[in-house]
Amino acid sequence: MKLVPKSPNGGSRKAEPLLSGGVPGFKKPVSRSRTIRIDFRNVAIAPESLMDKFVIRGGNPLVGSVRISGAKNAALPAMAAAILTDEPVILENIPDVRDIHTERNLLVSMGADVELGYGRASHRTTISCNNLVNPEAAYELVKTMRASTLVLGPLLARMGRARVSQPGGCAIGARPIDLHIKGLERLGATIKQEHGYIEASAERLHGGHIIFDKITVTGTEDLMMAATLAQGETIMENCAREPEVTDLAALLTKMGAKIEGAGTHTIRIHGVKKLHGARHRIIPDRIEAGTFVIAAVLTGGDLQLTNCDPSHLGSLIQKLEECGVSIKAGTDSMRVTNGHQLVAADISTEEFPGFPTDMQAQYMTLATQSQGTSIITENIFENRFMHAHELVRMGANIRVEGSRAIVRGKTPLSSAAVQCSDLRASASLVIAALVADGETIIDRVYHVDRGYERIEEKLKGVGAQIRRIGEILPKRAAAPSVVA
Ligand code: UD1
Repeated sequence: MKLVPKSPNGGSRKAEPLLSGGVPGFKKPVSRSRTIRIDFRNVAIAPESLMDKFVIRGGNPLVGSVRISGAKNAALPAMAAAILTDEPVILENIPDVRDIHTERNLLVSMGADVELGYGRASHRTTISCNNLVNPEAAYELVKTMRASTLVLGPLLARMGRARVSQPGGCAIGARPIDLHIKGLERLGATIKQEHGYIEASAERLHGGHIIFDKITVTGTEDLMMAATLAQGETIMENCAREPEVTDLAALLTKMGAKIEGAGTHTIRIHGVKKLHGARHRIIPDRIEAGTFVIAAVLTGGDLQLTNCDPSHLGSLIQKLEECGVSIKAGTDSMRVTNGHQLVAADISTEEFPGFPTDMQAQYMTLATQSQGTSIITENIFENRFMHAHELVRMGANIRVEGSRAIVRGKTPLSSAAVQCSDLRASASLVIAALVADGETIIDRVYHVDRGYERIEEKLKGVGAQIRRIGEILPKRAAAPSVVA
């Protein structure tokens, strides 16, 4: 079963590489064998979608059940891992969000064959990298999604060469990738940085001892992938212990990699000559789950989350219980109810298993509705309080002092026109709008679309009054076109 790309006006067109500009020494893509299988009806990056807004009328409690999607941050490295083998990698529970579409486009631009499932299998993606021709991640893609740098290690390990745009800063901070580069150099790569690109090469990577100066999630993932095909043993210390790292190690192990210690600070990898295809189910998105939990708490709702993993949400659950929330956690579901006044509690973002920086913005909205003063300290990113200013415009009492935000509650929130600055900041505004008095208009919701699958449909399904305006995103079709 093959999918045909559709042109923006709906007609079928011949598959083409999405990007041009090959690397010297690499063959140009050959159109006959490059059966690029992307269904453009599912690619939600039409420029018009940048105009989308949410209109939310607050006041309704969220009641019912929400199914949590697969974790974007686990799916992105898993897709990059497919580069490490010439056999198909089948990934289940891939969320239908914009960052995933960007990564698909990136893989396709390199010559990968990406097939999307449909109908009941709409969250399955099969990636075959048996014909990689262009080991490059161009600026146009990297600038919209920093996680594109995750292809650096796998490309270098499999093809001996990679050219990846430097990501630059972003809304939440400088976000350098120096630790990825230093680590790859320790595995024997030669790396040049010019014209805004990182150009890396290595005959074959060799094992090495890497001690990360700082804990980095995608850095740990990038280096772990690179080391799977290196000659000899790699020991990585001060590694990230996030569930997404452990999930990637599980996939790589299924592909034939020899990895010990994922989920701890020290990971050992015995390099192998070749990896093979595998089938893997991506873990549930703990940040999407946490976002719905806070939305349910603030609206005084009664919400059941299914297909989630409460064991990944320990620090959030503990903090919410401190605030007075009642949460019943099963193995793959959670029930949240709240009818009481919340009490303030401080948080400080930390690497896993600490309080996740990706839940800080949503927690700030919760703090505006808690009785007392909450001090929120952001330790991971230097500029991650953009949402505070928008929340103040809705009536919150927040003072930002460097890496601390002091939130005094409870203050009623009232509707306003606000705009999203980054993915998680957007989530905090959506939650604020759900409890605000009146109709809030949230602009730049393309940030939400990067990481939340059909959030307005899920919210509507449990009673929220939310609609998207300016929407011209194509709906997922019942079944894709088929090429013989
Ligand atoms: C990942 C997550 C992101 C989350 C973040 C922290 C993905 C796709 N994204 O981002 O949602 O907010 O972890 O949990 O998984 N740093 C350096 N040099 C480097 C790399 C990182 O100084 O080479 C710094 C960063 O600027 C930051 C800290 O290390 O201050 C942690 O960043 P990192 O864990 O790398 O974040 P990401 O992996 O980009």
